Amino acid sequence: MQSRSIDVRHIQPADLPDLKKYFFESPPEFLRSIGLKPMLPAEAADFDLRWQQRFADRQQNPIPCLTVFLGDERVGVHSSTHYQAGHSLIMHAHFFRSDRRGQGIGTISYVKALDIFFGEFGLQEILFKTPRQNRAPMRIKEKLGLLPIAEEVIDWPALIAPLETHVFRVTPDQMPELRRRADSFASR
Ligand SMILES: CC(C)(COP(=O)(O)OP(=O)(O)OC[C@H]1O[C@@H](n2cnc3c(N)ncnc32)[C@H](O)[C@@H]1OP(=O)(O)O)[C@@H](O)C(=O)NCCC(=O)NCCS
Repeated sequence: MQSRSIDVRHIQPADLPDLKKYFFESPPEFLRSIGLKPMLPAEAADFDLRWQQRFADRQQNPIPCLTVFLGDERVGVHSSTHYQAGHSLIMHAHFFRSDRRGQGIGTISYVKALDIFFGEFGLQEILFKTPRQNRAPMRIKEKLGLLPIAEEVIDWPALIAPLETHVFRVTPDQMPELRRRADSFASR
C-alpha cells in the first residue's frame, strides 16, 4: 500500500478547480462508464455560484463534502447528496486523479470519510447506492465487509439513464469493524 499518508479533510475553495475539471473535462467515455452526464460549459457559472454560496454559508451549514489527499497530492472527493442534517446522507466517491485509482486509497479513505461524517456531522446513518456494474466501488464494499440491504433503480438528474444499484447502509456501531478492516488493508 501507499507509504504516504491518506488524509480526508473538509473541502476548501482550493479544491474546487480539480473538482470542476473532473465533472466538466473528464473524457466523456469515462463519465459514461460511471453513468454520469458530462457537465456543459453553460453550467459552469452555476457550479461556481453554488459553491461560492456553500462556502459563504458554511458556518451555519457545514458542507458535507470531503477532499482526499495522498500526502500533499489532491486525489478526489467523498461528496454527498440527499443530506438530512443530523440524520443521514448518501455518500459518493470521485477520484479525479485517474492515475491514483485502483491503488488501495479508496478502501482507506471511505472509512476515514465515514468517521468524519458520523463524528463531526452527527449523522445516524450513511447510505451508498452503488451501481451494480461499477466494479471499483462494489469491490470496496466487499473488502470492507459491507453487505447490500436492498436493490434499487436510481434515476437522478445527473445520470444518463436509470441505474441498477445495490444499497448499503452504515451506522456508527459498525465503525470499529470498518476501521479494523481498513487498517488491515493499509498495512499490506
Ligand atoms: C471509486 C473510487 C473512489 C475507488 O477508489 P480506489 O482508490 O480506486 O479504490 P481501491 O483501489 O481502494 O479499491 C478498488 C478495488 O476495485 C478494483 N477495481 C476494479 N475495477 C477498477 C477500476 N476501474 N478502477 C479502480 N479500481 C478497480 C481494484 O483492483 C480494487 O480491488 P483490489 O484491492 O481487490 O485489487 C475510484 O476508483 C474512482 O474515483 N472511480 C471513478 C469514479 C467512480 O466510479 N465513483 C463511484 C461512483 S458510485
